Amino acid sequence: MNMSSTPTAITSLARSVLFDAIDARDGLFNDRNLSSYDDYLCAARDRVVRTIAAVDRPFSGIAPAELAKRFVDIDLDERLPDVEQALDEVDALYLRDAVYFHHPRYAAHLNCPVLNVALLAETMLSAVNTSMDTWDQSGGATFMEQKLIDWTAARIGLGTTADGVFTSGGTQSNLMAMLLARDNACIARAEPHVAKHKGLPADFHRLRIFASRAGHFSVQKAAAVLGLGHDAVVPVACDAQQRMDPGALAQAIAAAEAAGDWPMAVVATAGTTDFGSIDPLPRIAELCRQHALWMHVDAAYGCGLLVSRRHRQLLAGIEQADSVTVDYHKSFFQPVSCGAFLVRDRRQLAHLTFHADYLNPSSNVAEGIPNLVDKSLQTTRRFDALKLWMSLRVVGADAIGELFDRLLALARSGHASLLQQGCFELAHAPQLSTLVFRFRPDHLADDAGLDALNRQIRRELARNGEAIIAATRVSGRQYLKFTLLNPQLESADVDALVMLVRRTGERLLAAAATPLRLGEQA
Ligand SMILES: Cc1ncc(COP(=O)(O)O)c(C=O)c1O
Repeated sequence: MNMSSTPTAITSLARSVLFDAIDARDGLFNDRNLSSYDDYLCAARDRVVRTIAAVDRPFSGIAPAELAKRFVDIDLDERLPDVEQALDEVDALYLRDAVYFHHPRYAAHLNCPVLNVALLAETMLSAVNTSMDTWDQSGGATFMEQKLIDWTAARIGLGTTADGVFTSGGTQSNLMAMLLARDNACIARAEPHVAKHKGLPADFHRLRIFASRAGHFSVQKAAAVLGLGHDAVVPVACDAQQRMDPGALAQAIAAAEAAGDWPMAVVATAGTTDFGSIDPLPRIAELCRQHALWMHVDAAYGCGLLVSRRHRQLLAGIEQADSVTVDYHKSFFQPVSCGAFLVRDRRQLAHLTFHADYLNPSSNVAEGIPNLVDKSLQTTRRFDALKLWMSLRVVGADAIGELFDRLLALARSGHASLLQQGCFELAHAPQLSTLVFRFRPDHLADDAGLDALNRQIRRELARNGEAIIAATRVSGRQYLKFTLLNPQLESADVDALVMLVRRTGERLLAAAATPLRLGEQA
């Protein structure tokens, strides 16, 4: 049906609804339905603008059980009468109680506020709905992604043989790294065993991965997915700043070799999730060379340093890695999802290749047709690269680096602010932008009571939506965590968060006769 033949008296939104009712084909995005596309975009934009303008806290504080009640009577087999009512429903079920990462009192996980220009790209890429698996579904998008991969590899310093691909994020990138490391080790240890074809060799249970105790759990998950199991990951001790201790790594590798095990990879973390600590990459690279181990650097968080003129040296040694994880959706202010996996030697990506006659026949290789699916775990894949492309072309790499630099400065001033209060115990000095600490007034020494008190502080802040902060455990004890990924904050905002935690702790203490009673409440 042609939109232009519609009577002008009908409003545009109602018009598209009317057509939906007549023929669902009129709801499809195409050249004949562009005005309805336009209407929908405007309607969505208006909702978002209205919502964001009114957000006065990072979260409403609603309890899961309370929110769940709103879903009970929804019958997904019944459609709503019009788009406005569907948007009202989205408002009630989602927008009203969403967690807003741009808010100055959101400081919990590795979620960043996003660049507006990346949202512009998001709108375009979802409308065209490009899929990155093959050239014949993507055209220029393939070259844009490839150019960004080459740019990132050059920033890391991986050399001219490097390559990579965009991923859904750090979990997938780490899995790909461990897959390549495993298959490489199988060839080296059980020649000519090619795991991609034959599966795991007889002695596969001997394969070992080394990662610091502060490394990300996706490494254990990858080990399980790859048939090795969580226990194949050897936890390596950290120093006081939560960086992998290279002496402990050397010992762990030697012990595994002495036991007849097959060390295959070391995962160094450049920016641990809790502490933002950066493992000693040059020392780890040296050990990997000595023992012929795959060196993977998980820079999901620390990758922001790649564009920092001030702090790039913190990543020194990353250029020696065999593979690297970067998450633009953490440290380049990109919307989820937007990550990449990079390798020093592009030939290693062949462990991921399968040629399907219908999609990427091997003849395409000889013809020089670039099919990115040849180096990806995913088949259908979003054109997330467009977001980073627009961000680099409009905002620029240096400016993104400066945003990341601001986060490091905020963490340093927040650290000083916590110390100055005298009632906080700090677990580390920040290298990136997290702060791990616990509220510990002088007169309180009982660890169980302190655990309960700190747990309660976090819950209390979330309960009324005043602030969303994170928690973790350090040496078995309960700590609180700020993850500072919002460069719009001023140090006064972080000071205010510190004071909020302190006052909440004091109020809870005053309300409970003893810390033990707090424990009972928790
Ligand atoms: C160091 C590190 N690696 C990997 C991941 C997993 O990344 P994603 O959530 O993008 O899968 C995270 C997530 O926080 C992380 O902090």
